[in-house]
Amino acid sequence: MAHLIIHNIKTLYTSQGNTPLKGDRQGEMTAIDQAFIVINHDKIAMVGQGNYKKYIQSDTIFHDALGAIAVPGLIDSHTHLVHGGSREAEFAMKIKGVPYLDILKSGGGIHSTVEKTRRTSFDDLYHQAKHSLDLMMTFGVTTIEAKSGYGLNLDTELKQLKVAKKLNETHPIDIVSTYMGAHAIPKEYQSSRSDYIEQIINDLETIAKLHLAEAVDVFCETDVFSLEETRQILTKAKEIGFQVRMHADEINSIGGAGLAVDLNASSADHLMAIDENDIEKLAASQTIANLLPMTSFYLNKPYANGRKLLSSGAAVAISSDYNPGSAPSENFQFAMQLAANKMSLTANEILNAVTLNAACVLGKSQHIGTLETGKQADIVLLKIPNLEYFFYHFGINHTQDVFKNGQLVVHNQNIVSEVSQ
Ligand code: NIG
Ligand code: FE
Repeated sequence: MAHLIIHNIKTLYTSQGNTPLKGDRQGEMTAIDQAFIVINHDKIAMVGQGNYKKYIQSDTIFHDALGAIAVPGLIDSHTHLVHGGSREAEFAMKIKGVPYLDILKSGGGIHSTVEKTRRTSFDDLYHQAKHSLDLMMTFGVTTIEAKSGYGLNLDTELKQLKVAKKLNETHPIDIVSTYMGAHAIPKEYQSSRSDYIEQIINDLETIAKLHLAEAVDVFCETDVFSLEETRQILTKAKEIGFQVRMHADEINSIGGAGLAVDLNASSADHLMAIDENDIEKLAASQTIANLLPMTSFYLNKPYANGRKLLSSGAAVAISSDYNPGSAPSENFQFAMQLAANKMSLTANEILNAVTLNAACVLGKSQHIGTLETGKQADIVLLKIPNLEYFFYHFGINHTQDVFKNGQLVVHNQNIVSEVSQ
C-alpha cells in the first residue's frame, strides 16, 4: 500500500521518542481523540486529529477503524519461540507441586525440550514456530525477540537460529535473535561443566560471523549458571560486540540483577526474587527490568515487584517468556493483563512496557515502539471502548486489525491470507 489513511480512530495512544521511560515517567502517554494516521509505504507520515481531508492523494487507500482504539504494534522482547514438541507430560508433576528446578535436575524440563529440538527437523521446527507467530500476531504482536537455547550443541543452536532467521524473512513479524547456549548444562557435560562453558565461548565467534544473533543471554540461577560463569560468558560476548541480557533472580536471589547492571546489560529479565539493593542498583542504571508475569502465573510463583521497581526509578518492560516449560501461551494480552492485576501497574505503564521500553530492550527504538512520523507503520486497532477496558476484560483477544510495515496483516482477528503462507 503506497499511501494509506487509517481514520475513525476513537483514541490513539502513544509515547514519544527513542529512550526508555523510567520510574514516574513510565505512566506518561499521549492520547489523541478522533485520530487518524497517514502512512506512506511502510512508514508513518503523520498522526493527526480531526479532519484528514487535506492529506488525501490521488492514490490514497482508506481504512476505517470503526471507532477502535489505536496503539503501537506490541513488542514481545523475551520469547523462546523456536523449540521442538511440548511438555504437557510434565504438567501433572507440576500441579502436584514438584518445583521447576527439581524437574530440571531430574533430567526433565529444559532437557526434555533439548532432546526433542535436537530430533526435530528444520522444517518441522519452522512450521511449529510459524504457527506460534501467527497466533502472536492475532494478539497484536508485531516484533518479538527469539532465543535459542534448546540445542546446547552448536549444530542444534544454529538450526534454531536459522529457523528464526528464515521466519524473520518470511513472516510479517520481525524477529530479533538471541543466542542462549547458556540455558542449561547439557546432560553430556554434567561432569565437565567448565568444558561446556569453554564450548559456548568458542561458539560465540561462529554465531557472530554468521550474523545469526544480536544478543547473548544466560540463565543465571542456582544449579544452572553461577554468577561467575555468567560473567565469563557475557564478558566475552560483549568483547565480540553482542548486546547482553540475563535471566536474573528468577527463582533464587543470587545477585543476578546486580551483575546485569555491572555488565551494562540491555535487560535483566524475570526478577521475581530480586533483592532491595539490586532494585536500587537497577533503577540507577541503563538496564531495563524485563518482567514476565505469565511465568509467575504458570509456575505459581510470586510476581516481580513492578511497583517497587517503578517507584525506585527503574524502566520496566513486560514480555511473555513464551516457552514450552514455564510459559506455554502465545496470548501476549494475558501477560499485559496479569501485569495490571498482579503487579498493579497502570494501563499507561503497561502500554509503555510493551511498546517504547520493549523497543529499547531490543535496541530498535529508532524504528518501532511509538506512533510517530518516520517510524515503522506497526499499528494495532483494538476493539475496546477505552484503554482500561483492555485490562479489565481479560483472557480474550481484543485485537480488531493489525498493520505491519503499513500492510494489513490481521483483519477482524484473522490473518490476511496472503501475508502468512
Ligand atoms: O525463561 N528460565 C529459563 N528459561 C525459560 C524456561 C525454559 C523451559 O522451561 O523450557 C524461562 O522461564
Ligand atoms: Fe525465558
